[in-house]
Amino acid sequence: MKAPTALLRARARIAILASGDGSNLQALLEYFEGPGRDVASVVWIGSNRAEAGALVRARAAGIANDVVADPDDATELLTRLRAVRADLLVLAGYLKLVPAAVVHAFHGRLLNVHPSLLPAFGGDGMYGMRVHEAVLEHGAKVTGATVHFVDEHFDRGAIAAQWPVSVRDGDTPATLAERVLRAEHLLLPRTVAAVASGAVRLGADGRVHGEVPMPGLPDIPQ
Ligand code: GRF
Repeated sequence: MKAPTALLRARARIAILASGDGSNLQALLEYFEGPGRDVASVVWIGSNRAEAGALVRARAAGIANDVVADPDDATELLTRLRAVRADLLVLAGYLKLVPAAVVHAFHGRLLNVHPSLLPAFGGDGMYGMRVHEAVLEHGAKVTGATVHFVDEHFDRGAIAAQWPVSVRDGDTPATLAERVLRAEHLLLPRTVAAVASGAVRLGADGRVHGEVPMPGLPDIPQ
């Protein structure tokens, strides 16, 4: 009897970098212990901050983890990523620029999540609440989450997937952030799984090929 394809394909090994609380990291951990368990597994978690909640979550999940002492040191990062045989590197709320040598080594295998519909409200200095403050200041009616391939610049790589979120009358940066974060938690794991399985890929033409299925979700998460 022919084994299911999923069993024939080795699970992709995912490394994650996170600087903060790690709710996106938690969404990845839960997804790849659940619906995505045949596609990939999280094998390493790094942070530039020893006190990051992301490392607390890593330890609770029993996953190898390190404090990355010098986020600018490509050799240190690459050594760790090679030691865990990482196939994919995911930035889940990581606030440092990934060194160019790592970006090149992981071309087409390095993803970031951003809490707006890039290219709007992205770039250097646009992170966290600043993003949602800017969205409200500009009176945007729709914002959302973006997952993109990473290049040498903040938030500039090819877009892999996006999900819209309505801006509501009376929204504050905090209420908007909470709604966008929920969309991120849905979009990021599904996009990582699609890249891990090859359903979505960064082509030699620099364009993204393939689409991320977002089954059962309303057009605009409320
Ligand atoms: C998320 O909004 C992400 O888009 C941004 O930083 C935040 C991280 O949140 N890059 P968490 O640490 O995953 O909870």
